[in-house]
Amino acid sequence: MEKLKICIVGFGWFGKMHYSVYKDMKNVEVIGVCDTNENSFSSKQKSLQDEFHKDVSQDKDSLSGNIKIYTDVEKMLKELKPDLLDIVVPEDVHIDVALKGIEYGCDLIIEKPMTVNYKDAQKIEMEANKKGVHVYVGQVLRFDDRYRALEEMLQNTTKDEIRHITMERNFQSKSHLVYGRVHPAYSCLAHDIDLTLWLSKNKVKSVSAFANSFLNRTYPDNIVAVLELENGSLATLQNSWHIAQKCPYGFEFSSKIITNKDVFVIKNEPVIHNWSNDTVDYPELFFWPKINGKVKGALKNELEHYVQCALEKIESPILPLSEVVEIIKVANAIEDSINKKEKIIL
Ligand SMILES: NC(=O)c1ccc[n+]([C@@H]2O[C@H](COP(=O)([O-])OP(=O)(O)OC[C@H]3O[C@@H](n4cnc5c(N)ncnc54)[C@H](O)[C@@H]3O)[C@@H](O)[C@H]2O)c1
Repeated sequence: MEKLKICIVGFGWFGKMHYSVYKDMKNVEVIGVCDTNENSFSSKQKSLQDEFHKDVSQDKDSLSGNIKIYTDVEKMLKELKPDLLDIVVPEDVHIDVALKGIEYGCDLIIEKPMTVNYKDAQKIEMEANKKGVHVYVGQVLRFDDRYRALEEMLQNTTKDEIRHITMERNFQSKSHLVYGRVHPAYSCLAHDIDLTLWLSKNKVKSVSAFANSFLNRTYPDNIVAVLELENGSLATLQNSWHIAQKCPYGFEFSSKIITNKDVFVIKNEPVIHNWSNDTVDYPELFFWPKINGKVKGALKNELEHYVQCALEKIESPILPLSEVVEIIKVANAIEDSINKKEKIIL
């Protein structure tokens, strides 16, 4: 079987999760891993995410096989010449590492959000096209069976016309320390912008967004964005970083689609409850659950799909790059609308 040679850059909380998925894939060989922080390679390294990602079993074992370890991405690319560079560094570093990967002729997987401004997203698209490499972005909800089923129902079964979309996504304030390190229009709302564009098969005409901050950090911790879509329907996207710590999974979301005929609702409510005398637990079953020692769920679906696309040297039919650039364009408009306190016409 042909194997795709992969290097991972960024071996923090989510880079380790990617590695756990690749470890079980027969058509992948992880040949190198790079992180600027050498402590990331220690199995004893603690991460802030451990405190708010509940019930997530992580592979903190040392890297197995002949994987080479680096602290400099360019050195890794020069020495190992991977087919694909998987970018799992903090959001605002995606741009620099992506351009390096393109320079060395690699296909890329970039974790979401692709970038933290529209100009950088366009730059990556332009440079990738020039060099003839493919860029795949980790908008994981496109690979979540709940949303895949809903998209199919909307497109093929009911042929409904969407009238209104409501997307809610809330986290504990502790997680703002990590994912509030960039504007949540990108780190959080990128999911809901993607769902809105994908499910409605529409473009955004205008954005009016509002935000405030109770945590007094650089970026806001409450956001509401109202999007006018080209077909005349409306979408409201809401995001707060103030939910209580005992919330199942440590975060919550819901999506409601109102059409001319139907209403569709997806909520991440617990499927399995585990009550004991001291604790209540709700194992997460959709994103990256570990079942029989292997990572399953949306992340696995996503990475398997992108690996297959890279082996076939094709763009992803599930998420073409131009659609990701559109997500970042809308996120940028949300940030602008908040900062300028005005409606942004796209
Ligand atoms: N799809 C999802 O739902 C989802 C979930 C979690 C994280 N993410 C995304 O994954 C990415 C990583 O998130 P995380 O939670 O692992 O963050 P993290 O802070 O735990 O890990 C990032 C790692 O990158 C390393 N790093 C920073 N700059 C580097 C550089 N120039 N070269 C090499 N290494 C570098 C850091 O030392 C750190 O170990 C982010 O873009 C995040 O938004 C996506």
